Amino acid sequence: MSTVREIQRDITNDEHWQDLAAKFRIRPGTIYLNHGSFGLAPDSVRAVRRHWMQELEEQPMDFFVRQQESQLLTAKQKLAKFVGTDNQNLVFTENSTTGMNVIASSLAFAPGDEILVTDHGYGAVNRTWLRTARRNQTTVKCVSLPWQFESVDQIVDCLIAETNDRTRVLSISHITSATGLVLPIKQIAGAFHRHGILVCVDGPHAPAQIELNLDDLGCDFYAASCHKWLSAPFGSGFLYASPCQQHSIQPLVKSWGRLLPEIPETWSEEFTWTGTRDSSAYLAVPTAIEFLETVGVDAFRERTRWLAAYAEHRLRELFQTTPIASREDGWYASMAHVPLPSGDWSNLQRRLWEEASIEVPVIHFAGRWFIRVSCHLYNTTAHIDLLVSTLKRWTTC
Ligand SMILES: Cc1ncc(COP(=O)(O)O)c(C=O)c1O
Repeated sequence: MSTVREIQRDITNDEHWQDLAAKFRIRPGTIYLNHGSFGLAPDSVRAVRRHWMQELEEQPMDFFVRQQESQLLTAKQKLAKFVGTDNQNLVFTENSTTGMNVIASSLAFAPGDEILVTDHGYGAVNRTWLRTARRNQTTVKCVSLPWQFESVDQIVDCLIAETNDRTRVLSISHITSATGLVLPIKQIAGAFHRHGILVCVDGPHAPAQIELNLDDLGCDFYAASCHKWLSAPFGSGFLYASPCQQHSIQPLVKSWGRLLPEIPETWSEEFTWTGTRDSSAYLAVPTAIEFLETVGVDAFRERTRWLAAYAEHRLRELFQTTPIASREDGWYASMAHVPLPSGDWSNLQRRLWEEASIEVPVIHFAGRWFIRVSCHLYNTTAHIDLLVSTLKRWTTC
C-alpha cells in the first residue's frame, strides 16, 4: 500500500504531499521553514508519546518496574537498525548536546593534549570541549575550514594539516548548523584514525535527513537528536560508541544502571536507569521511524531535497549570490543555505516573523549573513515563494 503511494507521489507537486502535511499541527498562519532547529512531530508520534505518559502517570510502579526496561530495549533495537548499528552500541540520551557532554566528560586527557574542533561546529558543543579542556589542562584548537568547499580531499587535508602528536580527539558536525553542509565523515574518520586520533561526531541533523550507517561510518562516537529531522518527540536522541571505545564511557548521572535487582554489565546498561525520569519520548521514537517508512525514506529525502534545491534556486536568483558549496556535488541535503548580499541583516529574522509570520533563521557566520531554509514534509513551494516575494518586496524598495 505505502509502496504504491510512494510511486504515485510527484516530488515537484505540492498537492501530492498534502495528506502528509496535514499530519503536522503547525500553528495556523505560521510559515515554518526551520525544522532544522526544532522539528515538529506528526500526530501518530504525539499520540504514542501521550500513551506512554499516561501509562507512567496512572500506574507508575507497573510502568517503571514491569514495562520500562523491555520497552526501552524494543525501541532501541528499532532505532539501532534505522541508524545501521547493533543496539549494544547505542544508548538513548535526551539530545545531541547530552551525548557530546557524556563523551567530553568520560574521555581521559593528559595535560598538553589537544582537542580539535572546527569553525563550522555548533557553539554549545565547542563550549563543552572548552570546559573539558579547562578541567584537564588541555587546549581546544579551532580549525577554520576553507571558505569555498571544493572537494572531500580539500576538507580532509585541511583538518589533518592542523593535527600534531598531541591531538587526541576531533569533534566535528555531520551536518553543520550555521552552514547546512553535509561533511564527509567517513573519509575524515579514516584519515584521523590513520593518525591515531579519536573522531567524535555531533550529528543531530543527520537521522532521517541523510542515510546513516554508523557501523560503516567508522567514527568512535556519534551523538544525535531524534527530535529534528526524524520528527520524534522533543527530548529524544542517542549516543553511539564503537565497540572498542565503550569501556571509556560513563553516564553523566551515575545511578543503578538497571532496575534492581539487575546489575549493569555493559556500558549501555549503565544508561538504562539513571534515576526516575519520563522516558515517553524515547518510547515514541519507533513510531517516528514507522511514519517515515510509511512515507518511504527515499521519497522523503527526494521531496525535501527537491524543495531545498527550489529554495536555493529562488534565493540565488533574488540575491545574485553563490552558496559556499555546490548542491550538485552533494554538500547539501534538505536545507538551503544562501548568502545574503553584503550589509547588516541582523533584524531580518525578527522582522520576517513579526511582520510576515515566517520562521526562518538568518545566520551570521564568519563575517557574512546567510539565510537557511529547512524543508520538511509539511513545506510547499508556496511557502518558499512567499518567503522570496516578501524578501523581494523589502529589498527592492
Ligand atoms: C550541529 C548541531 N549540534 C548540536 C545541536 C544541539 O542539538 P540539541 O539541542 O538537540 O542537543 C544543534 C542544534 O541545532 C546543531 O545544529
